[in-house]
Amino acid sequence: MPTYRSLNLITLALSKGRIFEETLPLLKAAGIEVLEDPEKSRKLILTTNQPNVRVLVVRATDVPTYVQYGGADMGITGKDTLLEHGMEWGGSTSAAGLYTPLDLQIAKCRISVAVKADFDYAAAVKRGSRLKVATKYVAIAREFFASKGVHVDLIKLYGSMELAPLVGMADAIVDLVSTGNTLKANHLVEVEHIMDISSRLVVNQAALKLKQAPIRAIIDAFAGATGAIGK
Ligand code: PRP
Repeated sequence: MPTYRSLNLITLALSKGRIFEETLPLLKAAGIEVLEDPEKSRKLILTTNQPNVRVLVVRATDVPTYVQYGGADMGITGKDTLLEHGMEWGGSTSAAGLYTPLDLQIAKCRISVAVKADFDYAAAVKRGSRLKVATKYVAIAREFFASKGVHVDLIKLYGSMELAPLVGMADAIVDLVSTGNTLKANHLVEVEHIMDISSRLVVNQAALKLKQAPIRAIIDAFAGATGAIGK
């Protein structure tokens, strides 16, 4: 039986870094200020100026899992992470009890295919060659290449994907690109723009029913602030 306190407590899952930084102004618009800096503290549960709101510091890829299993009522994570977690391609709501009401327009980047500058990707695709593609975004890559009718062998990596073509392990990578500096520094070029990425608010559907008023208040504040910040 949920207690009065648990029915009032709102838990938000965030990852450190760019998403955390870009979420702070949105939280402020909702009257929430995080009282600790996750870059300085080793604490994983951060308090806020609101006694009934706390922030969990989790890995970006774990945000949907915490929200799905009710470890957090809501979270903020990239569209890339949600698609890899099983959110439907092009859809706004996943089947996993997650509700994604807002594109917060933060942590914007794109997901692209990149190859070594001397690799003729267009010719390889035209020839119908089977491409070796290294990525941590296997669901996105699989869907994209299938939609183009390109045969690929996907190699799952967890980071530093740029290395794979350089050491001859893959013909191409599928990775996030922001400034393009990482590709440039590793002599890789973008050959396909798969989609634009930004961060979404994701809400546990059961929590939304149980704690409707406080969660709706946060969604509305974020929606208002996103409009203002996005301009
Ligand atoms: C991402 C991505 C690229 C880099 C692109 O990595 O995987 O390596 O950023 O950014 P740029 O276009 O501005 O150079 P991130 O730093 O998020 O770490 P990761 O390797 O853990 O994904």
